[in-house]
Amino acid sequence: MDYLLLILGFVFALASGSSTTLPISSFDEGFSHLFGDNNMQVLKDGKSVHLSLDQRTGSGFLSHDLYLHGFFSASIKLPAYYTAGVVVAFYMSNGDMYEKNHDEIDFEFLGNIKGKEWKIQTNVYGNGSTNVGREERYSLWFDPSNDFHQYSILWTQDHIIFYVDNVAIREIKRTESMGGDFPSKPMTLYATIWDASEWATNGGKYKVNYKYAPYVAEFSNFVLHGCTVDPIDLMSLQCDPETSIDSIIPMERIKMESFRKNHMKYSYCHDKKRYTTPPSECVVDSKEAKWLKNFNPITLGDSGHLHHHGKRHHQS
Ligand SMILES: *[C@@H]1O[C@H](CO)[C@@H](O)[C@H](O)[C@H]1NC(C)=O
Repeated sequence: MDYLLLILGFVFALASGSSTTLPISSFDEGFSHLFGDNNMQVLKDGKSVHLSLDQRTGSGFLSHDLYLHGFFSASIKLPAYYTAGVVVAFYMSNGDMYEKNHDEIDFEFLGNIKGKEWKIQTNVYGNGSTNVGREERYSLWFDPSNDFHQYSILWTQDHIIFYVDNVAIREIKRTESMGGDFPSKPMTLYATIWDASEWATNGGKYKVNYKYAPYVAEFSNFVLHGCTVDPIDLMSLQCDPETSIDSIIPMERIKMESFRKNHMKYSYCHDKKRYTTPPSECVVDSKEAKWLKNFNPITLGDSGHLHHHGKRHHQS
């Protein structure tokens, strides 16, 4: 009995310690301004950033470095009250380097109206696979505009795991049949806020209302724990020596399954309108399919829109 408790304790320590013990980067150490002039503000502590959206512009920042695999995390507090149409995104992309065959790993917060349920979306593109969206949507067990919560991406050669407050919410395992659709080229980490009135909230039914602007998303506790790649010599890789988190442990899997059972609101694997035959990596559970049918159809953003939005604002 004691032995069992000891083992459980050890496993738990691993699960909860996996990300919390990693070093926190200040903004200047890890990031640069991307677009939206004064709408990005670094706070006095040097570790927190406000991104705001007003009638003039959204805003965003990006990591100095390109990474091939690693663990990337931020604590984020979303704008509150009426935020319909406002999208906050925390994602990795290499769209600036590979226009035709970019990779992307996304967390997107889709705006909300006070009192309604927040929705977040995750998605992945690999090697320009923008015609195969792999979106999933979920509700949360808290209001993400009340407080900071941690959102993390673990990306290895074999899988991608999305975490919310150290709860794994999605795992994408690389399968042979996915081929290049699994992100495999170095990417930059981004955070942006922008107006996605056309699609974000209830399929575009509720638009951004600038009466409530500025919309401010707060970021802190940045973790950039990965292998950096020299942008000139992409073969030269520098890895953090303690990159040790590389697979999901059984206890995390139990929590993940419970999260997905209770909070998943959409999965591309069950969207018969888009995919008469689900993409090869999908494992279709009939009970899950029945439950998810209630939420279809949904309105998705343009393929690879994150990258394009950042860029459009950047140039304007
Ligand atoms: C990625 O796309 C490029 C160009 O479209 C292609 O040449 C290459 O083989 C693809 N890579 C993988 C891993 O599928």
